[in-house]
Amino acid sequence: MTAMSKKNPPSNDQSYEQSNHQSNDQSKTQSTSETPRLRASFEEAQKDLGSGTQHYLHRIKSFVLRTGRLTPGQAKAIETLGPQFLLPYTGQTIDWEKSFQNSETSGLSTPINQKSRPKILEIGFGMGETTAKIAATRPEDDFLAIEVHEPGVGALLKLIGEQGLTNLRLMRHDAVEVVESMIPDDYLDGVHVYFPDPWHKKRHNKRRLIQPEFVALLSSRIKPGGYWHLATDWEEYAIQMMEVLSAESSLIITGALAGGYAERPSYRPVTKFENRGIRLGHGVWDLVFKKQIN
Ligand SMILES: C[S@@+](CC[C@H](N)C(=O)[O-])C[C@H]1O[C@@H](n2cnc3c(N)ncnc32)[C@H](O)[C@@H]1O
Repeated sequence: MTAMSKKNPPSNDQSYEQSNHQSNDQSKTQSTSETPRLRASFEEAQKDLGSGTQHYLHRIKSFVLRTGRLTPGQAKAIETLGPQFLLPYTGQTIDWEKSFQNSETSGLSTPINQKSRPKILEIGFGMGETTAKIAATRPEDDFLAIEVHEPGVGALLKLIGEQGLTNLRLMRHDAVEVVESMIPDDYLDGVHVYFPDPWHKKRHNKRRLIQPEFVALLSSRIKPGGYWHLATDWEEYAIQMMEVLSAESSLIITGALAGGYAERPSYRPVTKFENRGIRLGHGVWDLVFKKQIN
């Protein structure tokens, strides 16, 4: 089954837009309901939106700051769990072991925070349901999950509290900058990018996260032998992802399906939205690449 053989959801499908957590409407602005503590970190990300910096990675953002109020439960989760689970953007190399240090070890078969614990980065977790499920089913791994949308951060912190997850830390910042300035070379054991904003319209395609420059940057941060797993329901973006990642010489394609796509790995749960899409005959494409071992 190839990307070309599947149908796209119609681009004017309102429920598709909503369930994909992103309207791509550039006129919307950041919520005024956000907490002061998060605001400081986020203002740094905003500065770059109009700064005119010449660095290619800073010119065009892959997200738009959306309106959206925190529910009382999300606000409470940020207030109570933020100090432990929400890491600040510092622009300095992350101290991963220290960041995960205060985790509870109860219920985990492997002692947490050993240097050898695999480090998995997720970019753009939305409301975090998938992230929480994966963290729960892989207690031996540590997950750093990044998202710019504050209600999403609140929602995932709430899930962390409800499910007693200990192997997950969040950051609210532009993931491109986090990768660029906080993640060392050959560092990550895995990367997850699930249903990144497709930026359907031709004139918005340049906002897509998966571009050659970013792929080269993020690949340099993956350990030799580490993996990069992506999924999308947008055919044209699947093709772009396949082209761009295949062209990155440090990555090896692992998918066994036609066109190089992969079967959905069992750790990635099928989302409600995905189930609906499958019923309607829409496609979903998983891509799994490995970093070359020199
Ligand atoms: C379409 S949603 C998908 C969310 C989730 N992965 C899922 O499968 O439901 C894409 C998310 O990526 C986030 N995002 C886009 N660019 C980002 C960036 N550079 N840094 C952090 N988050 C980003 C958006 O805010 C949005 O919530």
